[in-house]
Amino acid sequence: MPLVPMRVLLDHAAENDYGLVALNVNNMEQIQAIMEAAQETDSPVIIQASRGARKYSEDAYLRHLMLAAVELNPNIPIAMHQDHGNSPATCFSAIQQGFTSVMMDGSLGEDGKTPMDYEYNVRVTRQVVEVAHAVGVTVEGEIGALGGIEDEHGAGLSEEEIKLHLTDPDQAEQFVADTGVDALAVAIGTSHGAYKFKKKPTGEVLKMDLIEEIHRRLPDTHLVMHGSSSVPQELQDIINQYGGDIKQTYGVPIEEIKRGIKHGVRKINVDTDNRLAITGAIRKVLAEHPEEFDPRKYLGPAREAMKKVCVERMIAFGQAGNAGKIKVKTCKEMVDFYIDLEKKKAKK
Ligand code: G3H
Ligand code: 13P
Ligand code: ZN
Repeated sequence: MPLVPMRVLLDHAAENDYGLVALNVNNMEQIQAIMEAAQETDSPVIIQASRGARKYSEDAYLRHLMLAAVELNPNIPIAMHQDHGNSPATCFSAIQQGFTSVMMDGSLGEDGKTPMDYEYNVRVTRQVVEVAHAVGVTVEGEIGALGGIEDEHGAGLSEEEIKLHLTDPDQAEQFVADTGVDALAVAIGTSHGAYKFKKKPTGEVLKMDLIEEIHRRLPDTHLVMHGSSSVPQELQDIINQYGGDIKQTYGVPIEEIKRGIKHGVRKINVDTDNRLAITGAIRKVLAEHPEEFDPRKYLGPAREAMKKVCVERMIAFGQAGNAGKIKVKTCKEMVDFYIDLEKKKAKK
């Protein structure tokens, strides 16, 4: 089957009360790890690429790797998503590259760092929705700003500053009405990267009750949790055991994500956990076999370590066992869906 619009997967997840992990990729081994995990667990898949990933893979390598994933896994519905599009132009170029879903992150400016006002966010997001829906491509928007890494996206907010940029439920409701996004990323206290929390997060810093409130107001909008790596202790330990230097840190507990899934969270973004797994596996091979220089000898275990993380998340979030159950729609079919949706809205 061709790549499917992400909305098809999110709708199925919403109808059947589960969440989908959205996994960042940059290279072949990461895509293979995800597809192996999906085959093992019969999971539908969301693969996402940041602007950095597209640059690293020069777009064309990524596009052809995704075609390979589709060819080798005809039974698995796969959505290809632009993570943190910083401008309409980035989203449009992703659509041209065959992405079936785009995120217009208008919560930040084009520099990917500066928190922007509501009007700017609505303007750029609405612009992307109009173009994307006309070709059946899914759109994710964001309201509120996350903390964390400053490299290309993320306002670099501290744990304290994050509190000032949490999603306002009134604004979230208005934003969905003003833009028509399919999915909405919300800021609930998470941040990108490994250093999210200095201790296991309580409800004071990780505002899961905010998710409940937003879902109550927007029951038909698919909610997205960014910065949702769990940063498992064992992955930190492997890196440190083999010469790395990861300072003690805490991520988003899986139980909290499961709570989110009960309240409308359908897409959960995870990148850091896979980066940690890959790095730990490579460090271990090189430390134990300093004579080794065949890249397959360390990239193979790295792929296996990432696959393990993917399998665990696919099972935990409930997407396992659903690949074969989804009635797939193409982007072309989604065009009619959006036309009908607009007609229904106009009648109201
Ligand atoms: O949200 C960010 C993802 O982890 C991708 O990060 O821009 O370094 O590829 P990146
Ligand atoms: P993590 O850094 O927690 O894996 O978050 C990834 C993410 O949100 C990608 O958009
Ligand atoms: Zn993100």
